Amino acid sequence: MAERDRAVHRIPEILRDAGWTVCLVGEEQSGKLAQVTAGLRRGPDPAGSGKLITSGFSYWGLESTVAWAHACNDLYYPVMRESIASFSRRWRGLSERLPDGPLHYVSLGPGTGQKDQALLRSLDSRGRCGCYLPVDVSAEMLRLAQREALQHLHVPAADVLPVQLDFSMPANLDRLGTLIRSTVGDEPVVYSLLGNTLANFDSDTQLLTLLAEKLLRPQDRFLLEVASTAGQDEVAARAAAQEYENSPRFREFVTSALLQYTDLQIDMNSLTCEGLVEGDRALLVKVIYRNRTGAELELTLPDRSTVPFPDQDTIRLLLSRKYTRAGLEKMLVDARVTAVGETHEAGHTSFDRPAFGMTLLLLAKGDGVRPDGPNPFD
Ligand SMILES: C[S@@+](CC[C@H](N)C(=O)[O-])C[C@H]1O[C@@H](n2cnc3c(N)ncnc32)[C@H](O)[C@@H]1O
Repeated sequence: MAERDRAVHRIPEILRDAGWTVCLVGEEQSGKLAQVTAGLRRGPDPAGSGKLITSGFSYWGLESTVAWAHACNDLYYPVMRESIASFSRRWRGLSERLPDGPLHYVSLGPGTGQKDQALLRSLDSRGRCGCYLPVDVSAEMLRLAQREALQHLHVPAADVLPVQLDFSMPANLDRLGTLIRSTVGDEPVVYSLLGNTLANFDSDTQLLTLLAEKLLRPQDRFLLEVASTAGQDEVAARAAAQEYENSPRFREFVTSALLQYTDLQIDMNSLTCEGLVEGDRALLVKVIYRNRTGAELELTLPDRSTVPFPDQDTIRLLLSRKYTRAGLEKMLVDARVTAVGETHEAGHTSFDRPAFGMTLLLLAKGDGVRPDGPNPFD
């Protein structure tokens, strides 16, 4: 037996001790550091479109993982807390529309794993649980998610395969697709991209198209959760930005990447959330750190190089969106996916606040058409 095979055969025995978990690492982590550095080297722009931390890096590493877990429990950051608390109920409304038989579950960006727990429990209670493959850029997030997701479930260790990988890179998705097909064969898979993760990417439509093209087969389903808005004017954009601004834990989370990748003395008053109208498709929220010291600073980056950070220059720490109905429908058409089920949870509304909510869509491969069911904004 080859040496590598001998090592693999030992793993089931090792996993009898619940303190150990396995994780397949799908890419060179040192290459990721070069990516963060490149984002922080971009030229000055006081409008927040210059230096940036791209999506995956906001969550990468232990500090960011812990800060994210805290933000999800913050009473002042209701978007995530309520999306986690109501997930089980919203999922129940869609689970009837799944294909028959055992289902494998691939969670793209599991976060704290609470939603995965709800989904796996519902499959398990009907004896339909196959393999569980959480996929995340952060190894620490994977370990946290796995522990939470599998609590009180009896999924055999051999059926759990966490994968550390950046799913926004086309070449990584080719490799992930091959791994999944070799694990499950032709049996159906439910993929998920939850918690409005899609909205964190500059090219959100392109990412959804890529995921559908490289992973989704006719027998599979894709569960997509996005934040939605009924209003699309300046007032709504400001209200969307405010949701993020009010949370101390969220502020700690977004600045945790700055703490890890720069030597900046962080001043929480230099953090702003700007709400913009992105045509008729979405409200866009940019979370920005601005140099307000009145002087030019110098940032030291992970490779020990330095970069000037002039007065009023910005670093974009996070991007988010709330999609309009038209924006969401167009994105599905462009990504060539069809909604086969949908639930919509309206957030709290008041006379001075537009109707925000969370939409959970069950998608299948195929040319996008209007989702079934009532329009949540009607
Ligand atoms: C907004 S959180 C959502 C967490 C969870 N799905 C939920 O709904 O509570 C985004 C998750 O995706 C992961 N993530 C973000 N960008 C990623 C990327 N490019 N590749 C892999 N994972 C990524 C983060 O580490 C995090 O776990």
